Amino acid sequence: MRTELLFQDPSTLSTPLLAVFAADISTGKDAAASPALLTTSDVLGNAAAKWLSSGEFKASLGETLLLHSPEGCRADRLLVIGLGKAKTLTAHDVRKGAGVAVRFAKPRGLRDVAISFPEDKALADEHMESLQCSLAARAIAEGALLADFEIDTYRSDRKDQSVHAVTLIANEHDGKSKDEVQHGWNEGIVFGDSQNFARTLVNEPGNVLTPTELGRRAAAMAQEVGLSCEVHSTDKLHELKMGAFAAVAQGSVEPPALIVLRYEPEKSPAEDAPVLGLVGKGITFDTGGISIKPADNMDKMKYDMGGAAAMLGAMRAIALLKPAMRVICVVCSAENMPDGKAYKPGDVLTAMSGKTIEVLNTDAEGRLVLADGLHYAQQLGATRLINAATLTGAIGVALGLLNAGLFSNDDETSNKFLGVLATSGEKFWRMPCTEDYREQIKSSIADIMNTGGSRYGGAITAAMFLKEFVGETPWIHLDIAGTTWADDAKPWLSKGPTGMGVRSIAEWVRSYAS
Ligand code: BES
Ligand code: ZN
Ligand code: ZN
Repeated sequence: MRTELLFQDPSTLSTPLLAVFAADISTGKDAAASPALLTTSDVLGNAAAKWLSSGEFKASLGETLLLHSPEGCRADRLLVIGLGKAKTLTAHDVRKGAGVAVRFAKPRGLRDVAISFPEDKALADEHMESLQCSLAARAIAEGALLADFEIDTYRSDRKDQSVHAVTLIANEHDGKSKDEVQHGWNEGIVFGDSQNFARTLVNEPGNVLTPTELGRRAAAMAQEVGLSCEVHSTDKLHELKMGAFAAVAQGSVEPPALIVLRYEPEKSPAEDAPVLGLVGKGITFDTGGISIKPADNMDKMKYDMGGAAAMLGAMRAIALLKPAMRVICVVCSAENMPDGKAYKPGDVLTAMSGKTIEVLNTDAEGRLVLADGLHYAQQLGATRLINAATLTGAIGVALGLLNAGLFSNDDETSNKFLGVLATSGEKFWRMPCTEDYREQIKSSIADIMNTGGSRYGGAITAAMFLKEFVGETPWIHLDIAGTTWADDAKPWLSKGPTGMGVRSIAEWVRSYAS
């Protein structure tokens, strides 16, 4: 998709579709909706005025009103897009609004979309306070790019409805905010493309995206954006004594991939700056292994590499945004299969850290590969750790499918992450992993076991297991099992892979550089 940013009155742009945002400025719970156009262009305002006052359009989030040949405008169509209440307007609403514009255009064969930058003429300053120029521009780029993504790549009868060009058009600003808009727009393109890169990986079926193929895609991406990348397999796992990771991989004819990416900033960070370690679960298909999963919904388990995809997407964004931080990324990729050689319940594994693990359930494989990945990232020099994984069904039971779970052994580190969510627009909710839960993963046979004794708190016992392998290093675990795949489409997004985590992880990394 081509992207362009113009500074001129949006009414002067010749385009098949010009989208303009509107918000409801009514106050009080029971007041009738009062939609106001978010633009400083009088021509646009006049063209829509009659319809905004007619009562047929309430500016609720995602609502649209299409005007053909709007008076005084050079655009063929003016699409008014509601963003909801002005009072609570956030950049995330703008992200969705931009997505609505693109997804409105696609089935109608409109290949060029222009979006008018939301400006505050109709709003009191307090309403727009939280909506900084750069963040709004960034959100529009992200929303537009994310909305173009489809999951039907393998359909022979697929109709390519992709939008070819998105133009953001903002009225002339003073010098400073013009730079801000440009800056946000550029960043949004990086974030949107990187998230779509992750979504493309997640969407690939298990027979295409094997661990080896994931390694190839990571290497190709690294080459493109200037990251160093190594991809290792079985021999290296044995050499490093990654007994947990190797055990998961041994049931498949597909060899595992240990993928290591490194980002070195051009300007070296301060001596005492932390080195950030990003670790991803990359199970390209999870059958459950010998503890095999039921057939229903097993197809979904192609997305069990969503954590790896999130980390690779974040690394892509980091490479392009160039924060002054050292970052190491370790992806542990394998296929979890039942086989004559597969690992079994009752097996005792020795992890790279030396800890012994009693396997109770071969379907709790994610924590095993991550145990070695987290240990290895520290050996490579990471002093702050973050991992992402589609780790447990239990996280969806606990939090629903809206918030992903965040677990951490360190308040400062986790607060830094929670602090970037207002910018990224993603939802993570902190869950406990205090020492009192440790009891539940104790084993009488080995140091620990790979599942909690009971089904209660399954997401927490999984986190407790990972915690065993991070020592004193400040660490965050993101359980994205409930949020990596959306079963239903939204007016601004296709159903399917969400790319959840990419934006927040990259933003968290950047927060250390500022
Ligand atoms: N990959 C699954 C978790 C998962 C479940 C991801 C649903 C996405 C959607 C993971 O490897 C797994 O199977 N976990 C088990 C753990 C149990 C055996 C302790 C689970 O959640 O049931
Ligand atoms: Zn599993
Ligand atoms: Zn799994």
